[in-house]
Amino acid sequence: MLKKIKETVEFLKTKWDFTPEYGVILGSGLGELAEDIDVDVVIPYEDIPNFPVSTVEGHSGKLYLGTLGGKKIIAMKGRFHYYEGYAMKDVTLPVRVMKLLGADKLIVSNASGGVHPDFEIGDIMLITDHINMIPEHPLNGQNIDELGPRFVDMSEPYSLKMLAKAKQIAKDLNIKVQEGIYLALQGPTFETPAEYKMVSLLGADTVGMSTAPEVIVAKHMNMTCFGLSVITDLGAEGKVVEISHEEVQEVAAKATPKMVSIVTELIKLY
Ligand code: HPA
Repeated sequence: MLKKIKETVEFLKTKWDFTPEYGVILGSGLGELAEDIDVDVVIPYEDIPNFPVSTVEGHSGKLYLGTLGGKKIIAMKGRFHYYEGYAMKDVTLPVRVMKLLGADKLIVSNASGGVHPDFEIGDIMLITDHINMIPEHPLNGQNIDELGPRFVDMSEPYSLKMLAKAKQIAKDLNIKVQEGIYLALQGPTFETPAEYKMVSLLGADTVGMSTAPEVIVAKHMNMTCFGLSVITDLGAEGKVVEISHEEVQEVAAKATPKMVSIVTELIKLY
């Protein structure tokens, strides 16, 4: 695995001569951020050795290398999911690559179903913590000691300092944000009413199909992480209605300008 990761890193170094400060995973709701990057190089995933190719509509796969908010960043437009059939080591390979290129901070976004009774469709939730229930753990198997320890501290998965900064930024920009715990399930089904209730009973505020594995791998390498989620549908009792991927994309798109503002300011100021 380390050989594969290093091969990808070496390939990207031949295309881009900078050291990124931030790795950014543009999930639903943040894809448009790519338009704001002062781009040095854009590379489709299929041209990057060892990158899986994203198969989900609305998650087009390109890597953006450039500058945002005065900082060098490496941004993924489109991510990989467990439900696409990839091994978790491949789902999280880009995070390894970001760190080995020099990024010591990771920003992730996603769309999710809100189970907190106060959440509304279109809300933005700053992620304070997660519960990972995707069945294959990304650190399963022989540890790569060169990248991080066998047993990983997870006492502060999402940086409290970055969270505080993001809250201040949202306040200054007059953007309402929620805060809460994200629970990751494997998908690809959205949850049944009973499953949404389970998510709530387990202590989470929202549920989705990504992010937690990427943050686990980032913490393995001691990266500082920040995550935010757009609530695209509701799972609170009595609020569950029919939902489609298209509706998720639509709601996420509406929240995009606010998500982009928060993340751009955070990158600039943190
Ligand atoms: N559940 C899981 N993943 C999701 C949801 C949801 O309700 N909404 C957007 N992604």
